[in-house]
Formats: sequence, structure tokens, C-alpha cells
Amino acid sequence: MRIGLFDSGVGGLTVLKTLLNKYPLNEYIYYGDTLNVPYGNKSKEELLKVAKNNIDFLLNKHVDIIIVACGTVSSNCLKELKASYHIPIYSILEPTITYLNTKNYNNIGVIATQATINSHIFRDSIPKQVYEIATPKLVPLIENNELANIENVLVEYLNPYLNKIDVLVLGCTHYPIIKKQIKDLVKKIDLLDMADLVTLNNGQEKRLEIYFSKIDNTIIENTKRILNDDTLTIHKI
Ligand code: DGL
Repeated sequence: MRIGLFDSGVGGLTVLKTLLNKYPLNEYIYYGDTLNVPYGNKSKEELLKVAKNNIDFLLNKHVDIIIVACGTVSSNCLKELKASYHIPIYSILEPTITYLNTKNYNNIGVIATQATINSHIFRDSIPKQVYEIATPKLVPLIENNELANIENVLVEYLNPYLNKIDVLVLGCTHYPIIKKQIKDLVKKIDLLDMADLVTLNNGQEKRLEIYFSKIDNTIIENTKRILNDDTLTIHKI
């Protein structure tokens, strides 16, 4: 099966990495729209436009299914995208919401982009106390690999919630890249990485193609580091 994944940048690579580990025998085609990152401050109309461009690119690569590896597009555009295309479109969001609705968490924290928080998808889909926390500084810092000060940024965002929540959802696929720093801060609070909830089948053949709409040394280094593979070929479209 040829599986197309897309995100605004390197964040969706965390989803790709999890799927490569769990289901290595598939053909994965990844597209990071680094020319338009970040998505988190875009309007719904803008998000639909970039998401459709990304899907059209992947369709030209003859993918069989699409996985929206972006919380921002998933939370704002999934319905419209599913209605616009004939191939199956999955996301990291639906399994996350299903999972949270089967668990006994009563106080759920979600960190995500401003556009995801504005959609209120988590609050509206889960009948529990949900604290939706916009963390817009994180994606640019992660994309630029400027992590020296990330602990202070996390403290600023998370401190008011640390004694209120029993699980923290990483509601943006960029955030697993700084999972260690988040875990060090939240300590015993459970962390939920949305990629862990995506299920697929194994196919027959392992293949990996990676494309970005803009490429530079930081993007190349980030990609190799996140996927833990120095030998990757990375294409610019
Ligand atoms: N990684 C994306 C998400 O899951 C996009 C973040 C952004 O570009 O602002 O929301």
C-alpha cells in the first residue's frame, strides 16, 4: 500500500517514524509544506487551500490513502477534505478522540496550535473537563531547532495546569520532537502522542520518499535526526 502523509513541516515525521517502526512493510510518501509553515496561525480557508495542494501532490505520487499528519488541518478541515476526495483520508485526531472517550481521564490537557485550539474539537468531542492550551511559540522554535530555551517556554505554558490534569495530549505532531523536555516538566502526568493510536496493516514492501516544498540545512538535519537515519534522500519539489 502506498501511504501519503503530509504536515506543514517536520512535525508529521513523528507520525511517519511511529508508523515506520510499527508497520515497516509499506510505501510511505511524506510531504512537508515547509514553504507555508506554520499552519497554526492560518484561517480555515487558508488551511483548506494548503491541505488540498498537499493532497494533490500526494495523489500525483499515486498514493492509496492519505494520513493527515497535522493536528491543525485535522481539527479544522477533515470533513471538507473527506468530502472532496475519493480516496480514504485518515488523521491522527480521530483515533485520539476515540481513545480519550474510552479512558477514565477526568481532567484532560491539550496543547496545540492556535488554530487547533480555536476549533475546540477536543472540548466539543470529549464530555470531560478539557483544558485547551494554545502553545503557538513551539512550532517555530522546533522547526528552527532553537531548543536551548524551550524548557522556559514550556513552563510558561504548562505551569498553570500541572496540578489540574491527569493526561496531556500532544495535540500537534511537532510536539513529540520535544517529548523529553515535556515529560521532564509534567513528570507523572500521562503524555499522549497521537501517532501511537494510528493503526494500519503491513504491506509487502518497504519504501520511503520524503519531499518538502522548501529545503535548507536545518530541515535536512531535523529530518535525519527525527527519523534517526543519516542516509535519507530528501527531495525538494
Ligand atoms: N504539526 C502541525 C500540527 O499538528 C502543524 C503545526 C504548524 O504548522 O503550526 O498542528
